[in-house]
Parts: sequence; C-alpha cells; structure tokens
Amino acid sequence: MYNQPMLRDDALKGKTIIITGGGTGLGKAMGTYFLKLGANLVITSRKADVLQKTAEEMEKETGGRVLAVSCDVREYEQVENVLAETLKTFGRADSLINNAAGNFISPTERLSANAFSTIIDIVLKGSVNCTLAFGKHWIKEKQPASILNIVTTYAFTGSAYVVPSACAKGGVLAMTRSLAVEWGKYGIRTNAIAPGPFPTKGAWDRLLPGDLAEKFDFKNRVPLKRVGDHQELANLAAFLVSDFSAYINGEVITIDGGEWLQGAGQFNGLEAIPDDLWDSFAQMTRSAKGS
Ligand code: HXC
Ligand code: NAP
Repeated sequence: MYNQPMLRDDALKGKTIIITGGGTGLGKAMGTYFLKLGANLVITSRKADVLQKTAEEMEKETGGRVLAVSCDVREYEQVENVLAETLKTFGRADSLINNAAGNFISPTERLSANAFSTIIDIVLKGSVNCTLAFGKHWIKEKQPASILNIVTTYAFTGSAYVVPSACAKGGVLAMTRSLAVEWGKYGIRTNAIAPGPFPTKGAWDRLLPGDLAEKFDFKNRVPLKRVGDHQELANLAAFLVSDFSAYINGEVITIDGGEWLQGAGQFNGLEAIPDDLWDSFAQMTRSAKGS
C-alpha cells in the first residue's frame, strides 16, 4: 500500500507549486505526484537541460502543466525571476518546496572554507532566498500559502562527516519553526519533512561512493529493515501542501522507518542479543532483586 498514491485525484487542483531541485530525485517524485493530483508545477535547478527533459517526461506521464526555470538558489535575483516567471505563466503561486540541496561526505578537517560555505549557501541561503522572495509576495498580496522544507533527521541530531549539511539543515529547521509563528498571521503555513534513506542517484553518488553502499547498508539501520519508497514521501508532501493539512503549522514530520531513534536509544544495540541469552539474562536480573 505504501507505494500507492494516497490522496483523492483533485486534492491539489488549482494550486501552483514550486519545487526547487525539482528535476531529479525526490523533487521529481513529489512533482510528478502533485501533477497527478491536479496541481500546476514549476521546477527549478541549475541544469536547464535536466529540467527541460524532466518537464517533458512529467507532462507526458500526467497530462499536467510544468514550467521549467533554471535558477541557482544561491542568487536572489534568479529566485525573484522564478517568482516572476511563475506568475507570468500560472498567474499565482501557492506552495514553495525548498528541496534543492548540496552534500557530500568528508572528514570536516579536510574541507576548505569554500567547500563548507558552498553547502551552507545551497541549503540554508538557498532556502532563505526562496522563502523570502515568495513570502514577501504572499504577504503583499494577502494570499494564504504554504512552505514545505525538506530537511533530514540529522537536522536535530547532528551528524559526523556531513557537518556543513547538518549545520545548514539545522538552520532550515529553525527557520521552519520561527516563520510558522511569525507568518501564521498571514495565513502562511511552514512545515518540514525529515526523510530517512530514500535512494536517489544524487544522494547515493555523494554519500555512498564506491562499495560504501554495501558496507554501510542503510536497511540495517532502519527498524523496519527497508529504505523509503519515493511515493510514500510524495504522499506525505502532497498532504502537507494540500488544504487537508490546514491546521498543521510549524511541524517537522520524520519519515524514516524509525532510523534515527534506533541510533539514539541507549539500549537499542541489545537487538543483537539472541533469544536463548535473554533466558539467562532474565535469571540474572531477577536474582538481582533485593541486592
Ligand atoms: C571535499 C569538495 C568535494 C568533496 C566539492 N568540494 N566536492 N571538497 N570533498 N567531495 C569542494 C570543492 O573543491 C570546492 O572548494 C567547493 O567544494 C565547491 O565545489 P564546486 O564543485 O565548485 O561546487 P558546485 O559546482 O557549486 O557544486 C556543489 C556540490 C555538488 C555540492 C559540490 O556535489 C553538487 O552540485 N551537488 C548537488 C546535488 C547534491 O549534492 N545532492 C545530494 C543531496 S543529498 P575549493 O576550496 O576547492 O574551491 C542530501 C541527503 C541527506 O542532502 C541525507 C541522506 C540520507
Ligand atoms: P538530488 O536528486 O541530488 O536533488 C538535489 C537537487 O538540488 C538537484 O536537482 C540539483 O539540481 C538541485 N540543486 C543543487 N544545487 C542547487 C542550486 N545551487 N540551485 C538550485 N538547485 C540546486 O538528491 P535528493 O536525494 O533527491 O535530495 C532532495 C532533498 O531531499 C534534499 O534536500 C536532500 O537533502 C533531502 N534528503 C534526501 C534524502 C535521501 O535519502 N535521498 C534523505 C534526507 C533528505 P542541479 O544540479 O540541476 O542544480
């Protein structure tokens, strides 16, 4: 069931949704589903050829309308141009998905200052730029709208070897909760999704290079013993930008099969203990009564 579409067919009818990084991976999966639910879609990223190809594929698969606008989210004027092109084509904008990201694994001490700030600029400054441009527009027009930020579970735990990304995603999470309160009065809802492992080429090439994908198999880190399916993320995202979630504001929803909690609980490693050993442990712990 989890890989099946969840909402009714017209759930996003009449809405125009902008997805940064919408030409590949999870952005593409979310966008394709939004179109199936009746939305108009704007996808944006740096590579115009990738965007154009995805837009054509999406239109063919769904019969919906897709506008592809190339934009580096680090550049505010380029983001303003996405807003202008959106209004020119669709006449309105209803939801912004801050999904574009940059990331790679590295010991932090090996990073140049430029490498560190490159990730901060794409993830944090890029999300800020988009949020600011679209937010100002919505406030000026007195138009209710929603923002959905794609973060990660290490936005709240932190993580070694992806420190620039952890810092940036932590910042995006702080912005999510802050603006949920500040912009709630304008009818702008701000929420986030923290996905666990959902295989995509962009992430896997940079985070699990070579044979790391086998050595560090994400499935083993997840209590449910599987990675995520793109449709289940798309289902959650569609719900969060739809009016069915009209009272959800300032929330970060984790969709990771329990992965981050498995790493957090002090005794979770006891999973490795076989059943027969539990019998003798039970005897020992029971006999400790009164000691
Ligand atoms: C160390 C590196 C590096 C690496 C780049 N740099 N790659 N340093 N190790 N592997 C350094 C460069 O030497 C340079 O510093 C600086 O970073 C900028 O590099 P550029 O190549 O000039 O940057 P740019 O062209 O802007 O490309 C950005 C990028 C690239 C992040 C480096 O990988 C990219 O375009 N990524 C976009 C897609 C992506 O990352 N998707 C994954 C998202 S996954 P110097 O000092 O030499 O100038 C994700 C999942 C989280 O977030 C959780 C998963 C479970
Ligand atoms: P992806 O396919 O690499 O997506 C990243 C997108 O960001 C690309 O389309 C890329 O396109 C775009 N992008 C990068 N730099 C940009 C810039 N400066 N300006 C505009 N666009 C830019 O990876 P993904 O796995 O689908 O990741 C999507 C989101 O999910 C990210 O926020 C990521 O952190 C998050 N996430 C993913 C996972 C996972 O398991 N996959 C887990 C947790 C969180 P261009 O190169 O064309 O610019």
